[in-house]
Amino acid sequence: MSLFGADTHTLDDLFVHGLKTIYYAERQIVETLPKMIDMATNLELKAGFEQHLRETENQRRRLEQVFEMHGTTADETTCPAIDGILKAANGTASDIDDKQVLDAALAFGAQMVEHYEIAQYGTLIAWARELGRTDCARILGETLDEEKATDAKLSDLAEARVNRAAELQRA
Ligand SMILES: [Fe+2]
Repeated sequence: MSLFGADTHTLDDLFVHGLKTIYYAERQIVETLPKMIDMATNLELKAGFEQHLRETENQRRRLEQVFEMHGTTADETTCPAIDGILKAANGTASDIDDKQVLDAALAFGAQMVEHYEIAQYGTLIAWARELGRTDCARILGETLDEEKATDAKLSDLAEARVNRAAELQRA
């Protein structure tokens, strides 16, 4: 079984396939984030998820723009990788009663998603440049910056939690 499908022969095919995959992934994320917002108890985490939901909706629109610039219709290809990450993240979180542990699990799940997206967008940008589509690369770069900023924010939240726990232990 081919990872990219029988119709993939050129770098251009790979690029379009990648766009379809991340377009699907962004929709799955838009559908999952409201559940994560409901579950999160830490207000900063909740607000971060709310902000990222708005960003993700806009990221879908950016992808539609890139499809159009590239002369292709916006379309989705199922991505088992993001399905697996979201399933694992939600499955773990839904079993946890302790609020702090639940928030930690949600933030961990969100970071797994961000790392997946950073890998996807990083590769798509490199391919876009290789194909001479610096215009597409620039738009995809705006999204990559948002994903990286979200990842950094999640790391800061985790760090703050570790520091709080250490303070409580000292007290
Ligand atoms: Fe995204």
